Amino acid sequence: MQKLAIQGGNRLNGEVRISGAKNAALPIMCAGLLTAGELHLDNMPDLHDVATMRKLLVQMGVTAAVESGALTLCGAKVDKLEAPYDMVKTMRAAILVLGPLVARFGEARVSLPGGCAIGSRPVDLHIKGLQAMGAEIRIEHGYIHAQVPQGMRAKRLQGTRIFFDLVSVTGTENLMMAAALADGVTVLENAAREPEVVDLAHCLIAMGAKIEGAGSDTISITGVEKLHGASHRIMPDRIESGTFLVAAAAAGGDITLSDARADILENVLEKLQEAGATIKTAGNTINLKMNKRPKAVNVRTSPYPAFPTDMQAQFMAMNTIAEGSAMVVETIFENRFMHVQELRRLGAQIDVEGNTAVIKGCTQLEGATIMATDLRASACLVIAGLVAQGETIVDRIYHLDRGYEHIEAKLSALGAQIRRMK
Ligand code: UD1
Repeated sequence: MQKLAIQGGNRLNGEVRISGAKNAALPIMCAGLLTAGELHLDNMPDLHDVATMRKLLVQMGVTAAVESGALTLCGAKVDKLEAPYDMVKTMRAAILVLGPLVARFGEARVSLPGGCAIGSRPVDLHIKGLQAMGAEIRIEHGYIHAQVPQGMRAKRLQGTRIFFDLVSVTGTENLMMAAALADGVTVLENAAREPEVVDLAHCLIAMGAKIEGAGSDTISITGVEKLHGASHRIMPDRIESGTFLVAAAAAGGDITLSDARADILENVLEKLQEAGATIKTAGNTINLKMNKRPKAVNVRTSPYPAFPTDMQAQFMAMNTIAEGSAMVVETIFENRFMHVQELRRLGAQIDVEGNTAVIKGCTQLEGATIMATDLRASACLVIAGLVAQGETIVDRIYHLDRGYEHIEAKLSALGAQIRRMK
């Protein structure tokens, strides 16, 4: 198993290019199932999850041509309407094939994802939404079998009003894709407003879909009979952006992100300023300067535009060495404090009570061997390693490779001492 060895203590300086967003790329790849035309995608990140999604689509009969940073999908010969357990268990986003398959082919068989390190993460809202659109759904042997009944007009899903009890990002995306080919108008209420939902909507609109309101909590989709091929550029990864900014705020330094977007990071940038960083944005660059020990900052996760759960662990790492105490409240996932035990091994002082962690900043962490448990927890441990005294070994970094493109190369270029051990 691969590990990262980090020698802490270096400041971060220089420029880093932000990759395409994993959480936009994955649903947009699934949109390739909605058409027999070619979907050309640029700014594709080179990530394990993207490779897994490509494999899954290819298994279904999609052709995928990879060129550096670009991917062309063609769904003209899709013949296997199934996402097997082996794929879904390694990447929950595989559930995103469900909506497109049922919408275009009238049926699908997709494994239930099961739990994961950060909580139970059910997909009941995806299922209820498709049922409301007329799909018949059976759960058998761990699989979701979805079918549009024979009697329904041209075997198409029917547009309807769907209210989400909870804001769900992939739930909104799955149903938006399904509704794009449904018969009639679908209105999604209490929909996710995440920028990745908007990026998917832009891609679908380029493919001929009729969508209004993406980015607000009410999305209206007028179904069309067919979608066509299109070209789309994947938006920059706001979580990768935030992760590098927090790393520089914790370790000190002067970094500039290029190909980034400040407008979708407002909450994170405000928190970094509160921690004492100076932030300047211009065009698609974000510059952060930090010349002192960070101040502790409280965070409370909530759906966009509030503070993202995917940035919680990284802020926790910064808070461990900050001046003062901070409270971190996680409201989205019930078990997203797995990194706390590992941070404690480096000397961090953290108390957890339910969904709240109280972090008492200390002046210095000490390097040790620690284990990554999920994607964003891994990023948190890398940041802790960058500020700890001596060597930190981060084990099980396959989580990191799922969602961060060439992280050690990017951090090395900024002056960090970090290397991959095979
Ligand atoms: C997406 C992101 C993930 C991010 C999360 C929250 C992708 C590929 N992943 O995950 O990085 O951490 O949004 O911003 O975009 N829920 C239900 N029933 C459902 C669906 C969700 O109860 O059918 C619950 C979940 O357990 C969780 C909450 O709703 O407590 C939000 O989850 P959701 O927004 O669906 O997360 P994902 O889309 O899986």
